[in-house]
Amino acid sequence: MKAIAVTPGTPDSVHLNELPMPSLEAIPNGRGVLVRVLKVGVDATDREINGALYGNAPDGYDFLVIGHESFGIVEAVGDAVKHVKPGDYVSCTVRRPGGSIYDVIGHNDMTSEEVYYERGINLRHGYLTEYFVDDMEYVVRIPEMIKHLGVLAEPASVVAKAVEQAYEAQRRLLVWEPQTAFVMGSGQIGLLATMALRLKGLEVYTIARKPAVDNIKAEIADGYGGHYISTKEQSIEELVKEVGKPDIIFEATGSSWLAFDAMNHLGLNGALVWTSITGGDAESTIPSDKINLEWVLGNKLMLGSVNGNFRHFRQGIADMLQGELTYPGVTEKILTHPIDGLDNYQEMMDLLVEAKALKVYVNVSDG
Ligand code: BGC
Ligand code: ZN
Repeated sequence: MKAIAVTPGTPDSVHLNELPMPSLEAIPNGRGVLVRVLKVGVDATDREINGALYGNAPDGYDFLVIGHESFGIVEAVGDAVKHVKPGDYVSCTVRRPGGSIYDVIGHNDMTSEEVYYERGINLRHGYLTEYFVDDMEYVVRIPEMIKHLGVLAEPASVVAKAVEQAYEAQRRLLVWEPQTAFVMGSGQIGLLATMALRLKGLEVYTIARKPAVDNIKAEIADGYGGHYISTKEQSIEELVKEVGKPDIIFEATGSSWLAFDAMNHLGLNGALVWTSITGGDAESTIPSDKINLEWVLGNKLMLGSVNGNFRHFRQGIADMLQGELTYPGVTEKILTHPIDGLDNYQEMMDLLVEAKALKVYVNVSDG
């Protein structure tokens, strides 16, 4: 089987490699699900892994198959598998458990161990190949009605977890009825967060750099009933003067400076959720006295949120389904840049490096 891989530690090493065809029997106790890969999404994480910023090969290999955003069709299942059957559309989670209590209770996204195992990212092969097999615990069904959005199940799970975490953490307030959200960044995570927060009834301002004219991201944010704001046209300070400070800031910019800058704009009792990561070593100056004062006097909260487990995939898929009913045809506009087959891995990586495409994904097989 063909697979798109990198050689960890070597920058720009993306190449085509080979994996053996996986077998259902590799998963014990009849719990295996064999999936034919249909589409795989790629993102900045894949670009940074190819840049050798992070990502390690599984034991016994000198390469790592990349791709963590999976969508496929079930080919075969073991005897114990009841929640999916051959012919069902599925996605598969990314994290695999270590040994901490969180891993043991199915919350491996909350592992308290330094080393984490993630398919396509660290120590486990990913999905940019032709077939994969996994334990039923990690395989999530996608309703046929949104199979055209299936490749967004993983990013939608990341959003679902981050939103859930904010609401969970805000129970500290006993009453929290957020009205306004700023979503920082209009990549796939920012746009799916715009959708998820709109579905919760919030007024959402999706803030990014590019002007709104002829901008698919603005079209999508507005399509969800949000307000796209270009910082080239209106500063965040001006926006705050107009609409007030938000109850929640969902940060998904991929810029650590902006992640910190967001601390200047959060409302009283608000929650700032960070979801993007930056593999570099940038440093920046922040008004630390001002933030310190405002954050203590305002009981403000910041939390980081990574990955998502089976439940978050289910929630993300449910959000996309409700999104499709509420804002028909909007979410599919995220899927801007298809790549035709695994052989075109270089074109895939070039698009990621240029960083101009909203969403790059590989059509691996038809179904
Ligand atoms: C993935 C997450 C993962 C994180 C850290 C993101 O791109 O979507 O599932 O946990 O990277 O590796
Ligand atoms: Zn991703």
